Amino acid sequence: MNALRSLLPYLKKYKARLIWGLIAITISNVFSVAIPYFVGTTLDRLNTGARTGNPATGAYLAKQAGIIVLLSIGSGIFLYLTRQTIIVMSRLLEYDIRNNFLGHVRSLSMGWFNNTPTGDIMALATNDISAVREFAGPGLMYTANTITTFGFVLVRMLTLSWKITALSLIPLPLVSYTVYWLGRKIHSLFTEVQGQYGDITSYAQENMSGVRVVRAYVREAFSMSAFARLSELYKVKNIKLVKTQAMMMPAMMALIGVSQLIVLVVGGNEIMAGRSTIGDIAQFFAYISQLIWPVIAVGWVTNLVQRGAASMARLNKVLDIRPEVADGAQTDNAILAIKGRIEFRDVTFRYRPELPDVLKNISFAVESGSTLAIIGTTGAGKTTIVNLISRLYDVTSGTILIDGEPIQHIPIDVLRSAIGAVSQETFLFSDTIAGNIRFGSRDASDEAMLRASKIAQLYDNVERFPKKFDTIVGERGITLSGGQKQRTAIARAILREPTILILDDALSAVDTETEEQILHGLRGLMRQRTSILIAHRISTVKDADQIIVMDHAEIVERGTHDELLALKGEYARIYERQLLEAELESL
Ligand SMILES: Nc1ncnc2c1ncn2[C@@H]1O[C@H](COP(=O)(O)OP(=O)(O)OP(=O)(O)O)[C@@H](O)[C@H]1O
Ligand SMILES: [Mg+2]
Repeated sequence: MNALRSLLPYLKKYKARLIWGLIAITISNVFSVAIPYFVGTTLDRLNTGARTGNPATGAYLAKQAGIIVLLSIGSGIFLYLTRQTIIVMSRLLEYDIRNNFLGHVRSLSMGWFNNTPTGDIMALATNDISAVREFAGPGLMYTANTITTFGFVLVRMLTLSWKITALSLIPLPLVSYTVYWLGRKIHSLFTEVQGQYGDITSYAQENMSGVRVVRAYVREAFSMSAFARLSELYKVKNIKLVKTQAMMMPAMMALIGVSQLIVLVVGGNEIMAGRSTIGDIAQFFAYISQLIWPVIAVGWVTNLVQRGAASMARLNKVLDIRPEVADGAQTDNAILAIKGRIEFRDVTFRYRPELPDVLKNISFAVESGSTLAIIGTTGAGKTTIVNLISRLYDVTSGTILIDGEPIQHIPIDVLRSAIGAVSQETFLFSDTIAGNIRFGSRDASDEAMLRASKIAQLYDNVERFPKKFDTIVGERGITLSGGQKQRTAIARAILREPTILILDDALSAVDTETEEQILHGLRGLMRQRTSILIAHRISTVKDADQIIVMDHAEIVERGTHDELLALKGEYARIYERQLLEAELESL
């Protein structure tokens, strides 16, 4: 419940709306509570008027009817205004919370993303924020409505007869409780149904997108029967939900019927005893029916509050996380650009405290404008070095210096916008090829974009597509080959004209000839920039100013191609093996 307190700042922003909404709801209820009074007095006049010498006339009836119509219209107008203020406010509040939440999530560190399933983040951003909105909108509105309606109606009923009032109200708490209890049950069944639906869609999606694997391994029949099982469960859960939902209205009506029965019996006796009039009892009937919805709302709102509080608590847990990597007191905002000298001093790193070191005492320096190549066994820590340069993570111990400044002094935006990185796993968006290349440099001219695609050896390929650079890639478009994807990513990095260019295994999916052409094209570009090339092939790294060989989190050899060959160590061994492979291939 405490979690909902964090909504106060948001609510404060819309204080005026909220207050207007509460005023509107009160006025609306004043109007509607007055209606039974006019019905009652009209009935009494019709019933006893002749006897008392004050008979009802057509004009009197028309006047009373007119008043009742006006009251209904008044009540309706203010009810409309209530929804216009409070429900609209809850939508604005939802918008604010969602933007805040996503803004915050975006600032969180890679470590958090690695450990949080995307589905969970989506659920927070949709379901949980919706639950909070339902509390702030319908929840607050119906609470106010219940309180005011109850207040007014109770005063009216008590002035008519405290005895009928007391007895007829007895079943009502049961109505609230039933709604609360059934509401909870329905909600949990509903959540199950939704979860099951999620399972069905993920299963179907995986089997559709993985249809090639399914066919290749002749698993169609298995796939179908597994799907049928999921479908069956979905049906069973849905039927259970429908059955529970079906109980809601009859249970309500039965309990309210009891209230009306009490009014009829007790009221009837009071009339016979001459303590009440027919008009009074008619008013009671009307009031009981006016109480139905507020009483139901008590149970319903209790659920909304509980759900809203639980969701807000879940959101707060994420909102309270401070990003590990962020600009802070150490940041020197006077730094607006970097030149690109990179130095690692005794850097040790592990992804999480409980995991082993993936970099141990790493030291090297790359002068601005020179090229460093990293080669080594898989899992040695090559990609991790690159992650640290982009400050996706901070070092566990040691220092990284850029232009001689500790990396923490450089504003993160300045650092990252100076880096053009092609990561090992290329990620393309469902957009045109041009859009994908322009991803990090929206304002680049068409010529620059085409030039980048030529250097990346992508141009000729794309020119052969009917729509050329306007070809959509991904699910809604064509599927690019692995090498075409890599080259699109390379063009994207080149177009940024980065101070630091990083290619992490970015030539692995292209043949050695194309690789040669790309490296040749990049040469001019790399002269003015600091470049880091990570590769498994000697052909990629041999021309670098400096090569480091990594194995198991450590640098085992370093030097130029010739120096490393002369060393006759690990690098020389890799070289000989790859030469041999090339010879065997050419046979
Ligand atoms: N996000 C992560 N969380 C925990 N451990 C990680 C994470 N990323 C990588 N590792 C681990 O760190 C080690 C080094 O990984 P890294 O990706 O740097 O290797 P690599 O040298 O780039 O390998 P490859 O040549 O296969 O790309 C591996 O043992 C890997 O399992
Ligand atoms: Mg890697």
